[in-house]
Amino acid sequence: MKVLITGGAGYIGSHCSRYFLEQGVDVTILDNLCEGHREAVKGDRLVVGDCGDGALLDRLFSETAFDAVVHFAAFTSVGESVAEPRKYFHNNVENMLTLLNAAVDHGTKYFVFSSSAAVFGEPTCLPIPEDHEQRPINPYGETKMIGERMLADYERAYGLHSCSFRYFNAAGDSSDSTIGESHHPETHLIPLVIQAALGKRPPLTVFGTDYDTRDGSCIRDYVHVEDLASAHYLGLKYIMEHQTSEQFNLGSENGFTVLEIIRAFEKVTGISVPYTLGDRRPGDPAALVAGNEKARELLGWKPGKSTLETILTDAYHWEMKRTY
Ligand code: UFG
Repeated sequence: MKVLITGGAGYIGSHCSRYFLEQGVDVTILDNLCEGHREAVKGDRLVVGDCGDGALLDRLFSETAFDAVVHFAAFTSVGESVAEPRKYFHNNVENMLTLLNAAVDHGTKYFVFSSSAAVFGEPTCLPIPEDHEQRPINPYGETKMIGERMLADYERAYGLHSCSFRYFNAAGDSSDSTIGESHHPETHLIPLVIQAALGKRPPLTVFGTDYDTRDGSCIRDYVHVEDLASAHYLGLKYIMEHQTSEQFNLGSENGFTVLEIIRAFEKVTGISVPYTLGDRRPGDPAALVAGNEKARELLGWKPGKSTLETILTDAYHWEMKRTY
């Protein structure tokens, strides 16, 4: 099987690319390296380029008859999307459209899409089921919802089968610490907790202590990046076998507050985390927890690494050994 993985040098994309290679898939990675890392890609599988470059896509799809595209390349910061929506609609919508057109023009039949829990906005129930109403509260979530809608229309019109995954909070790193999370600037809670604990940055600020949660800080559902990788492989196999399209929430079904994450890290490593209590961050929903029954039942997915202990241990080891 030949698969084009866009954004395969990024955080989730690099773990997924590695998993696909381990399953014997012939992987080509397309990444413009604006946020990805060359070091995250093994061997000569990386093509440096942009999903919005129609001529490059034409060449790649002509050279290789890809069975599927797995599309990670996108901007993912909620706050930035509010400040710079045009950047998000350009990359996440316009460039995805160019990619989709190249795929259908060249006869590729399957598409796996990185969607997000951000498509749901403020949930009306927890855990969030797949068919929960989609009312995104920021441009990032809008772009992902539009991506899912384009896929529905492309299936109806062109027969492109797709699998969309709404990630909750991707976390953790490869268990051998060779690839991992590296954002510049880093905005995600777990790397910030660890870097603050190691004195690599000032004390963490807990964003908001007056949410309607058990300790006042936000609840999130942390899912191990290696569990996300296996879900993509299972999802692609599923849409191939069943000639269908599906959407799945990917989370652990367990929610933890920001303060619980701090305490858990201290327990796992014995290192204390310096932090201060601060104001809410605009755009943060109080609690997001995924219902994951659909992925477990239809795909046979087992999020076995998505315990706080494994996530925090792997993230800590990566932070100690990271090479990029
Ligand atoms: N947080 C802090 N202090 C920090 C950083 C984060 O308290 O310095 C809190 C946030 O307020 C939030 C939680 O930690 O409650 C997790 O924040 P992250 O920034 O790590 O992750 P988000 O939940 O904001 O965002 C993630 C993905 C997005 C996706 C979103 C879906 O990174 O791409 O989940 O809701 F859109």
